[in-house]
Amino acid sequence: MSSTINTMLIEKRVFNPSKEFVSRARISGMDQYRAMCEEAERNPDSFWRTLAQENLQWRKPFTKVLNDSNAPFYTWFEDGELNVSENCLDVHVKNGNGDKTAIIFEADDGTVQSITYRDLLARVCRIANGIKTLGYGKGDRAIIYLPMSIEAIAVMQACARLGLTHSVVFGGFSARSLHQRIVDVGAKLVITADAQVRGGRQIPLKAAVDEALSYEGGDVVEKVVVYERTGSQVDWVEGRDVRLSEIEAGQAEECEPVAVEAEHPLFVLYTSGSTGKPKGVQHSSGGYLLWAKMTALWVFDAKPEDIFWCTADVGWVTGHSYIAYGSMAAGLTQIVFEGIPTYPNAGRFWEMVQRHKVSIFYTAPTAIRSLIKASELNPEHHPRRYDLSSLRLLGSVGEPINPEAWMWYYENVGGSRCPIVDTWWQTETGGHILTPLPGATPLKPGSCTLPLPGIDAAVVDESGKELPAGAGGLLVIRRPWPAMIRTVWGDENRFRTSYFPSELGGMYMAGDNAQRDEDGYFWILGRTDDVLSVSGHRLGGTEIESALVAHELVAEAAVVGRPDATTGEAIVAFIMLKQSAPDGEEAQKIAETLRNWVAREVGPIAKPRDIRFGNSLPKTRSGKIMRRLLRLVAEGRDIDQDTSTLENPDVLKQFSDVY
Ligand code: WT7
Repeated sequence: MSSTINTMLIEKRVFNPSKEFVSRARISGMDQYRAMCEEAERNPDSFWRTLAQENLQWRKPFTKVLNDSNAPFYTWFEDGELNVSENCLDVHVKNGNGDKTAIIFEADDGTVQSITYRDLLARVCRIANGIKTLGYGKGDRAIIYLPMSIEAIAVMQACARLGLTHSVVFGGFSARSLHQRIVDVGAKLVITADAQVRGGRQIPLKAAVDEALSYEGGDVVEKVVVYERTGSQVDWVEGRDVRLSEIEAGQAEECEPVAVEAEHPLFVLYTSGSTGKPKGVQHSSGGYLLWAKMTALWVFDAKPEDIFWCTADVGWVTGHSYIAYGSMAAGLTQIVFEGIPTYPNAGRFWEMVQRHKVSIFYTAPTAIRSLIKASELNPEHHPRRYDLSSLRLLGSVGEPINPEAWMWYYENVGGSRCPIVDTWWQTETGGHILTPLPGATPLKPGSCTLPLPGIDAAVVDESGKELPAGAGGLLVIRRPWPAMIRTVWGDENRFRTSYFPSELGGMYMAGDNAQRDEDGYFWILGRTDDVLSVSGHRLGGTEIESALVAHELVAEAAVVGRPDATTGEAIVAFIMLKQSAPDGEEAQKIAETLRNWVAREVGPIAKPRDIRFGNSLPKTRSGKIMRRLLRLVAEGRDIDQDTSTLENPDVLKQFSDVY
């Protein structure tokens, strides 16, 4: 945290958008940006009404914009009806853009396959008709556990077409995590693939579904639809399992979109919070889609001729808003990539930018940092070896981008010519919140700059009082916005207490610490809770702790993050076994067992990097684990802080060995 603050105080570089960029931008210059902000503040009702009328196609027009009578359960455009898939596909075909390429899919092995908006619509309709034939529609939930593919997007869109609420689970989560989400969301239908292919390796998905459904409560699922990605051998449950190709076969290429209320849940996406169980973030259809589309247009300054590439997976919110929905509603041509940035070598991203003439490239700081490292090790894969002249805009998302990585990205990838939009947002916000507008905002490396028009963001203290420039505090959003989380699926109380604590008097609390500078620019300092960011993946410390203590050898566990130059944070687990603390080979063996256990319980992405054993955990006299001190130990720093509040100050010494 302290390094970010220091950086901010010394960061004096400012990059203004080029005249050429400004002259062609959708939002052009700071005056236009400020005028939009003022308009939204002065008359929010007409600001949002006009956007929603002009940018979405409504089956039944809305009359009411915001209903705040049951705050914080806000509703938007509540008496209007629309269909999300119609707004993402049919509109483009009707507007004469049916032959425009919607998706350029590049497989792990480099095979390329493109699909036009017209053909994608037909595919979505066939799948939707297939799902309908199985007997599912509005009011049901489907779990989607698919690799990056045209099929993943088509299946999400098909659900949207039917008003079937989906919940996508990232392929890096285990059968246990999958099971938890299936049960929580009450899915009758699971759509998966036989396997996914990443980095030249096949990773089974169907087998994980079979396992998840074998656990208690897994029998809520009636049907499993399997997309045959690899054709590999899978177990088959007659009557339950059915192939995607079978349900599509013979179906009509038209499927009437089901008009749903604007508030109808388009999807539920699980994310980590500060307690053990992931939260099902529920999003709407109307408000969500409006903001996903507007931000795609404004922040990426998207034009019809752009080739857009968001490298996220559809298992995360970035892949929902800027692959499956917002960018589709904006009618973009986009790249969908199955593989990983380092296969077959660390030049993969740059080679793909060159091959597909990508003009807008949106990725995560962790990917940039790993590619910096790789290009230092092997200059052959340095971005300067590739023709990246098609690029005109770069984006960053998921965690703070450190100014050094920002500069490298700016100079080596963007050729010092492309603005970088550092977009701060969350699963809960549905779309971008704090971000530069590329044709307006002067950029400062490491800052996500300013709120979008219509967004009332602030930094406040614990009583909700706004803090002056230079003071760190809680990042809040003071007024509702259309794409905000509607509730935590099945847990209204958790929604209130997690995001609208009473001390803040109704403001949305993001869970991040932030600070503003003299120009009002926001600098994100990190989370206020125990949420970790590992390679841009949001993981709950408590979730990993719960997994660890569920192992028969473990008595207690505490998980913290330590800063890592590549992955942002690395997971460090402090463990007290039921037996006394092991060392040497035995400790090594137990550490390995526990790592594999976490991979099974949560997912391979949650494996602790370091494991440290002790005979007890440091606790306050009231029994709270001192994670603050453990963080210092994890970083290998001296504990020069006052440890007198510790019940048992000596325990810290035990944790010196790392396994
Ligand atoms: C958390 C949300 C937004 C889609 C991907 C992550 C951190 C996100 C930035 C940024 C600094 C960022 C925050 C936030 N974060 N973007 N540009 N600068 N921090 O969504 O998994 O819901 O995680 O990611 O800590 O709270 P998510």
